[in-house]
Amino acid sequence: MSEPLQSVLHPAGADAEVIGQFAWVLFGAGALIFLAVMALLALSLRRHAQPLRPGVWIAGAGVALPVLLLTILLGWSTWRSARLVPQMSGNALAISVTARMWWWEVRYRDPAGGREIATANEIRIPAGRTVYLGLNAADVIHSLWVPALAGKRDMIPGRVTGLTLRAEKPGVYRGQCAEYCGAQHAHMALHVVALAPAEFDAWLAQQARPAQAPAAALPERGRAVFLEQRCQSCHTIRGVAAGSSLGPDLTHVGSRLQIGAGLLRNHRGALAGWIADPQALKPGVFMPAASGIDGESLRALAAYLEQLR
Ligand code: CUA
Repeated sequence: MSEPLQSVLHPAGADAEVIGQFAWVLFGAGALIFLAVMALLALSLRRHAQPLRPGVWIAGAGVALPVLLLTILLGWSTWRSARLVPQMSGNALAISVTARMWWWEVRYRDPAGGREIATANEIRIPAGRTVYLGLNAADVIHSLWVPALAGKRDMIPGRVTGLTLRAEKPGVYRGQCAEYCGAQHAHMALHVVALAPAEFDAWLAQQARPAQAPAAALPERGRAVFLEQRCQSCHTIRGVAAGSSLGPDLTHVGSRLQIGAGLLRNHRGALAGWIADPQALKPGVFMPAASGIDGESLRALAAYLEQLR
């Protein structure tokens, strides 16, 4: 799946279309006004220019014109932005997103069993269907922004806000935290992955399952290392360790595109590097380094996590 530019000017959803239109119309109007001012300036610098009547210019260009233009732009943008209000329609898929320093916890309700499914840093959605995101923050104020799909919405501790998203076509859309939230604000990215509806249903059913049992000796050893290193103090792997939810749920971590909230592409090497020294990759992150772990165990642990798909 290709990743389009993370840009307001490359909309891929209904809300983003409206916002893209705002950007172009306001830019266009601003450019016209700028050109008009420059033309008047050039005119006034001409040697033998006729003296202008200041009263007429102040009232006309200084008061009447801005009032007229701003009123038109305000009226137009208010009318258009009525479409941007979060709406929880009956058919919308509800997903809960909690922002944390510095990652995103994403929860779905399993349509079959009704239980919650937790994942991280990736919001998978069905293409062509409206999705309602219930937004919350666990620690400080964050803001969710996926420019190609919708506007940004602040996420405030203790308060649930909402945002509707809709991707018309399957694809990967990058987003990021848009409110300064501490040292690693810049490394708080996420991906919205829009899938064909049937593919999405299959993915959700897969996510609802507990972790897959290792099929080889190396990942088998990795599972033991996970427990020895007490990774469950912060992480849950359903079916293996009902740990805490301090860090991302790892039940299907191998199926995610990236780790560390958009920091590294997800593969065995990146997982090993991250576990060995997260502080070197993302200083200040709450995950401690797995100090004292030997190379063999680290390799096994990374191999185990990689096959959790
Ligand atoms: Cu979270 Cu900035």
